[in-house]
Amino acid sequence: MNSNNVPTEPAAKREGLSAGDPIGIFDSGMGGLTVARAIVDALPDESIIYMGDTKRCPYGVRTREEVSEFVRQIGFWFMHRHVKMIVIACNTATASALPMAQRTFGVPVIGVIEPGARAAIQATRNGRVGVIATPLTIRSDSYAEAIHQFDAGVSVVSLATPDFVPLVEDELSTGAYLHDDWRHNNTVFMSEQARSVVGRSLEPLRGSGIDTLVLGCTHYPLLAPAIRATLGPGVRLVSSAEETTRELVETLGRRGQLAPEGSPVTYRFATTADDITAFAAAGQFIFGRTLDSIEKVGTDELERLGASRPRA
Ligand code: DGL
Repeated sequence: MNSNNVPTEPAAKREGLSAGDPIGIFDSGMGGLTVARAIVDALPDESIIYMGDTKRCPYGVRTREEVSEFVRQIGFWFMHRHVKMIVIACNTATASALPMAQRTFGVPVIGVIEPGARAAIQATRNGRVGVIATPLTIRSDSYAEAIHQFDAGVSVVSLATPDFVPLVEDELSTGAYLHDDWRHNNTVFMSEQARSVVGRSLEPLRGSGIDTLVLGCTHYPLLAPAIRATLGPGVRLVSSAEETTRELVETLGRRGQLAPEGSPVTYRFATTADDITAFAAAGQFIFGRTLDSIEKVGTDELERLGASRPRA
């Protein structure tokens, strides 16, 4: 049943895909590249196609219906590119449309919320977990539900942090980071402005007693130094990139769809951003490798794709 309680049939499983086909990974912008990086680091034989829907970012202040439609469009775009699996590397899109995506595209689809929730319950010692995410993710209550599915005894403190994604995307859109790598040089997001936005936004968590904080948006790992500086060493930061990668490996492994060792590997990127040069520079900063192949995709093309397909 979908959210309108209309019974739906899952899409037929897609035929003709092979283990050497790429994995499709997407986000509303650059944040999902933190997940893409974890995936290619762990799986050097896999090819990927990454789509960053920068033009329509941020998703987190939109409605669930809007975001769900964007997920449909991008999923169909991936279908034309023969992906063997889709990773929704965006918490907001996962919270809004994971079941729809799983029913619609005929390939396995995984999101980032369940992996993030699993990582959080493994990390907490005192059973008090904080979750920060976009307003839409927090409103969906998906994290609290996922955490409670794993451990009903954990208490969850949820906080929407609407200023974080614009902070990250605005900074990255300057395109100033070519040749830098956020894992090694992340002073950008320790600027006075970043620290002040992060400090103010996290004020409600002071005194909450949490010992673990889920970075419930794939943009947020970039802000980890400022978040750590605000909350102190007593709070462990958890993000879903590594745990999502583990789930991906399990899913592909069970289906016999892991790319064989020595497979030819390609990393392709696509974006709805107007400025490909800035996307390339920021992408390299996050992905840790040069983005050699970037395709610009119009949101009108995505809308046409969505309109040409029946709704599940
Ligand atoms: N990286 C997306 C997420 O994980 C950001 C959402 C947005 O565009 O607001 O939620």
